[in-house]
Amino acid sequence: MGKHGPENFRGLRRDDEQMNVSLKPVFWENSVLYILDQRLLPFKEKFLAVKSIQDAAFAITDMAVRGAPAIGITAAFAFALGCLQDMEESQIVDILGNTRPTAKDLFTALDFMKENKKDPVARALEYLQESVIKEEKLVKNAAELIPNKCSVMTHCNTGFLAYYNWGTAFGGIAWARKVQKKDVFLWIKEARPRLQGSLTAWEAEKRAVPYKLIVDSAAAYVMKKEKIDAVLIGADRISEKLDAANKIGSLELAICAKYFNIPFYVVAPETTFDRKSADASKFTIEERDAGEIMSMRGVKIHAGNKENFYNPAFDVVPAELITAVITENGVYYPSH
Ligand code: MRU
Repeated sequence: MGKHGPENFRGLRRDDEQMNVSLKPVFWENSVLYILDQRLLPFKEKFLAVKSIQDAAFAITDMAVRGAPAIGITAAFAFALGCLQDMEESQIVDILGNTRPTAKDLFTALDFMKENKKDPVARALEYLQESVIKEEKLVKNAAELIPNKCSVMTHCNTGFLAYYNWGTAFGGIAWARKVQKKDVFLWIKEARPRLQGSLTAWEAEKRAVPYKLIVDSAAAYVMKKEKIDAVLIGADRISEKLDAANKIGSLELAICAKYFNIPFYVVAPETTFDRKSADASKFTIEERDAGEIMSMRGVKIHAGNKENFYNPAFDVVPAELITAVITENGVYYPSH
């Protein structure tokens, strides 16, 4: 095994060292699921060795692995772990389906695992392989929309940590910069309480993307003061009419972009599409433990009772505020 994962992952290309990213959010070897523990980043690069579906489910719930497409890939391998533990399919789906309710990729992966009748590990590897192919097409499509010289803004983390090799929105930005040599500057909006913006800053360092990280509430000020050419975000679930659920704070970012006349793009694979939902009105929005707001990286920063805190993890950007949704198959424009 290489330092950060298997050298030969069923023919999947590992990122070249030249890109400075050989890490992957997860990998599978000898019946063990290795998960890069994102709770320790950017300070420590450490893998959890996960041997049971219960531990995999906890890693998803506690956000050791996060980002909708990466959650989907993890769920596929967790499903395989459940099969190796001789569990019933319904029990497996029950355990994993109760981890992160908004992330559609999780359920896409579970459906893929249920429908495909191969050996479960081979099925999970197939899901990964398909995901990686989609990811590369997706970032190329996103990069095409990025001007040659520009400043763009993003929110949360949508890099390789949230997918596999590149990411979604950040993946497109990194591709535009590193492969297409476009002169892109990145503004990263932080995402309290879990600080996924700092994960993006860490990835930007690795990909040599010039950036500035701003606090959650600084986006409007920066949009007014600086020239921002586009906003690119990812999504956790997208309806047929192209409403997009994404990290809390996405809605206000879209409202600000509209006010300042900045194009607002959502970059996501089709595994994130909820084809059964015409719009977002029935989306389940995950509400996380209020304790996450009361402390930061294990240090208590608020006194008081949990009842005084509210911690929705996502909001919905309505299609009316979205310029276009970019997928591996091309660009969708909301009907407005
Ligand atoms: O709560 P998280 O960190 O899992 O939320 C992640 C996001 O909101 C991402 O923008 C989304 O999953 C798309 S990631 C490629």
